[in-house]
Amino acid sequence: MEESETFLHNGWYVIAMSQEVTRDLLPRMVLNEPLVMYRTQAGVPVVLEDYCPHRLLPLSKGCVVGDGVQCGYHGMQFDPNGHCINIPGEERIPRDLKVRRYPVVEKHRWIYAWMGKPELADPKLIPEYADPTESAGWHHVSGLFPARCNYLLILDNIMDLSHLAFVHAGSVGDASIADKAVVETSTQGDRVRVVRRTCNVPAASTYAHFGKYRGNIDRWQVTEYAPPAFFLVNNGSKPTAPTPPSEGDVSGNGMWGFQVYHAITPETENTSHDFWTIGAPVEMLPADAREKFKNTMEGILDEDRGVYDAQQKAVEAKSPLGRAGRVQSRIALKGDKALVAARRVLQTKINADRRGVAGK
Ligand code: FES
Ligand SMILES: [Fe+2]
Repeated sequence: MEESETFLHNGWYVIAMSQEVTRDLLPRMVLNEPLVMYRTQAGVPVVLEDYCPHRLLPLSKGCVVGDGVQCGYHGMQFDPNGHCINIPGEERIPRDLKVRRYPVVEKHRWIYAWMGKPELADPKLIPEYADPTESAGWHHVSGLFPARCNYLLILDNIMDLSHLAFVHAGSVGDASIADKAVVETSTQGDRVRVVRRTCNVPAASTYAHFGKYRGNIDRWQVTEYAPPAFFLVNNGSKPTAPTPPSEGDVSGNGMWGFQVYHAITPETENTSHDFWTIGAPVEMLPADAREKFKNTMEGILDEDRGVYDAQQKAVEAKSPLGRAGRVQSRIALKGDKALVAARRVLQTKINADRRGVAGK
């Protein structure tokens, strides 16, 4: 297999929301590889390469039969491990006739697939970021948004939240987020963490509405990154206090806040799947506030998608080298520190994988 230089293959990627995967075949492109997924009769998710080895019709054009798949062209059948188990009209089935099967984990109401060497697929490598989605004390909204951009542009966006001041000025942002924030970036192993504290500022409209604030607030945003492209953003706030929010404060949501998880999965070099979940402790989001909260959050994600789309077009128009997430920026700002650190962590892992590519 030819390796793309901008993708980390030995990694977990979210490839579907649990409810999307049924007894019908669902095709999806991931890291430029066509996948097809479905569930066995026992409900176990299966992910196979979406090519029939005979004449390359995508298996997703066929149908599920029992626990396997039947090609829609000449009827070859494959079991959930990808082994061919029937060829109509043929007595003999070559022993090595199979399609690639991808290791799968279902967790966080998502389907994760391992896109590299199967023997390296360790479920413990899935980050813990979305674990609160499994807790009863949280309310969640979630979805899948297509993004017309290379996945690294989304990484850039999430790692530099100063953009709230401009992209989301009508909801969660105001000028203070860019002007007054005190930002600390740290890297530990392959994790990058950014803490933004913005103190004694008027509550942005979303905070004023849901947090019911009347005066100034202290707010914080803690972004954590784990490769290939998992993100947790913990947002919190409380009435302004004489001292800035402590490390203990910023690990919670304060008087009002919420968490955002993104699992960004490259579709192709220039398009991505943005799987997202936004959660809040139920006491911060009473039942009558949930519809408006969901609409507000979807509107915010749409604003980001508008940026991605326009930015990707500009990056591609600028030069062929500007593709695949290479922005070729002419200036580095202080706010770029975290995205540079995250890109570096990822590139180091991609390079290590590429050195091991011969054994693949
Ligand atoms: S293309 Fe699938 S059986 Fe012929
Ligand atoms: Fe944003």
